[in-house]
Amino acid sequence: MSVEIQKIQDEAVAGISTATDERALEDARVAYLGKKGTMAAASAGMRDVPNEEKPAFGAALNAARKAIGDALESKTAELQDLADKKSVEGIDVTLPARELAQGGLHPLTIIKDRAIQILRRMGFALADGPEIETEFHCFDALNTPDDHPARNEKDTFYFDGGKLLRTHTSSVQVRTMEQTTPPVRIIAPGSAYRRDDVDATHLPVFNQLEGLYVDKDVKLGDLKGTLEYFLQAMFGDNTEVRFRPHFFPFTEPSFEIDVKLHVKGEEPKWIEVAGCGMVDPEVFSSICGQRKDDVFDPEKVTGYAFGMGLDRLAMIQWGIKDIRALIENDVRFLAQF
Ligand code: DAH
Repeated sequence: MSVEIQKIQDEAVAGISTATDERALEDARVAYLGKKGTMAAASAGMRDVPNEEKPAFGAALNAARKAIGDALESKTAELQDLADKKSVEGIDVTLPARELAQGGLHPLTIIKDRAIQILRRMGFALADGPEIETEFHCFDALNTPDDHPARNEKDTFYFDGGKLLRTHTSSVQVRTMEQTTPPVRIIAPGSAYRRDDVDATHLPVFNQLEGLYVDKDVKLGDLKGTLEYFLQAMFGDNTEVRFRPHFFPFTEPSFEIDVKLHVKGEEPKWIEVAGCGMVDPEVFSSICGQRKDDVFDPEKVTGYAFGMGLDRLAMIQWGIKDIRALIENDVRFLAQF
C-alpha cells in the first residue's frame, strides 16, 4: 500500500516540477490535494488496511501530502521569481528616478500669509466675518445709506431676504466693533465680490485684507507710518509708496495708496493697492447706536482703517500683469512660485 502512495507522490512531484504557469500549478493542487483529488482517494483506502499496517500507511500519507505541498510551494516561488525578473527585463535600474512633481502654495496664499505675519508682528490680531452680509454691516453702518452713489457703484450679488455677497471686507470693522471694546487692532483677510467686468485688473471675486485700529489719540501719522512700514516690509526698503487724497464714505480724510510696480522691460508705473483713512465719526456713532453704549463715542476714540487688495499685492510682488492668471490654475504659471 505504502508503495502505491510513494508512487502517487513521485508522480505528483514530477508533474509539479514541469508546470510552467500558476494556472497549471493550481490545477495540480486540486488534482492531488483537492477534496476529490488523488490523495483524498488514497486516504479513503485506510479503511481496507489491516490494523497493524495503519500507522505506517498514515505516516506515508502524511509524508506524501507534505512532499506535494512543499513541491507546490517551491514551484510557486520559482514561477514568481521568473515573473519578477521578466517584468524588469530591459529596465536599467541604475537610471536616476523620475522627479516627483511637488505641490506648492498658491501665490495668493503666500502673499496673504506674509502680510498677516508682518501685521501680527505690529500688534494686529486676526478677525473674521461672514461673506454673505447684511446691508447694514456692508453699507449702512459704514456711513453709506441707501441713496449713496458709492452703494450703487458697488452693487453686488443679492440674495432673497436682502442679504448680499460683501463688496468689501470693511464689514468686518463693524462686526468687530459690535463685539469688542477699544483698543481695537485687527486685520481681516478674505474674499469680496463685485459686479465687475473681468479684465486684466478686475475679477468679480477678489481678495482683500482689512485693517482697523481704534484707540485714544490715533492719528493720521500713525496710519501713514504703519502702512509705509508694512509695504516696505512686504516689497523691500526701497519700495516707493504714494498716498493720494480720495473719498470713502466711512473715512475722513481718505486716501488711496499706490505702489510703484516694476515689470522687467517696461516703464515703472503706479498701481493702486489700498484704500485707507481716519474712521469717520459717523461710523463710530452708528456703532454706539448699535451697542447701546458709548465706548466708541467719537469724542473719546479715533481710529484708522485700511483695505488692501491682496491680488494687487501679489501682482506687484511678482510683476504679474494679468490678475486672471491668479485664478486660471495653469500649472505652468503656478509652478513658478
Ligand atoms: N472698502 C474699500 C474698498 O473696497 C477699501 C477701503 C478704503 C477700506 C478705506 C478701508 C478704508 O478700511 O478705510 O474699496
